[in-house]
Amino acid sequence: MQHKTILITGGTSGIGLELVKLLAPTNRIVFCARNADMVAKTQKEIPNTLGITADIQSDNDVKKLYHQINERYGMLNVLMANAGVANFVDYNDPLPSNSLIDMDINFGGTVKLINQFLPLLRSSENPAVILTSSILAKVPVHSMPIYSASKAALHSYSQSLRAQLPFLRVVEVLPPLVDTPLAAAIKTNDKLSPKAVAQKIIGDFEKGKTEIYPGRAVIANFMSRLAPKKIEKMLNSL
Ligand SMILES: NC(=O)c1ccc[n+]([C@@H]2O[C@H](COP(=O)([O-])OP(=O)(O)OC[C@H]3O[C@@H](n4cnc5c(N)ncnc54)[C@H](OP(=O)(O)O)[C@@H]3O)[C@@H](O)[C@H]2O)c1
Repeated sequence: MQHKTILITGGTSGIGLELVKLLAPTNRIVFCARNADMVAKTQKEIPNTLGITADIQSDNDVKKLYHQINERYGMLNVLMANAGVANFVDYNDPLPSNSLIDMDINFGGTVKLINQFLPLLRSSENPAVILTSSILAKVPVHSMPIYSASKAALHSYSQSLRAQLPFLRVVEVLPPLVDTPLAAAIKTNDKLSPKAVAQKIIGDFEKGKTEIYPGRAVIANFMSRLAPKKIEKMLNSL
């Protein structure tokens, strides 16, 4: 990926931060996140980047993000809709008031972004949207019902978007467990590094892949079709 104008949401941490680091030397990178201090720190540390504080859940922030990119560059080749959150929800306990937050950010926020940026993508060269979904789109983890459902929704949504918009390359990334703050509460040594995921995304994008399965997600995806109950049991025994 070279000489492109790229927006990476969630660019201050984990997979998004690694994407920013890898792509900044050869592309024009804009990234966003909610925490203004982290945005400023990341922009300072990684040359050739523009950080914007924005919450993808907010209509206003998404509009402002769009206007800043449109006014400054007038184009967007790649939208990396990567920002996300993950929360445990246990229906045996009283539900927190924000129990739908994973759906609102991971699915609602991503759709909001795409709605806003579609005209700019349409008028740019070789436009693409890369959505960071999860292998949980195919196999739910029961302790994260809303998170798993938000990724299943993204999977379905990317299929429809791809079919409706032949001008737009729609790529879905379905990682397994990755060693980032988002997955810190899941205690296992079997996590992929965010750098390996970012490298896989860039490599497979260049190979023309439509769905990208980093690390063991390849096996999990295969098993979700061949032995769905078995893989569901395996992923839920971690
Ligand atoms: N880690 C895993 O095991 C794993 C596995 C499969 C898929 N994924 C997916 O990979 C993506 C990246 O996750 P990660 O693991 O790299 O997590 P992470 O290290 O926690 O990074 C998440 C990033 O998203 C930003 N963000 C969260 N909510 C936002 C919002 N409403 N608006 C704008 N930015 C927001 C965060 O910054 P602020 O908090 O400052 O906004 C941060 O920069 C997510 O979509 C996640 O679901 C992760």
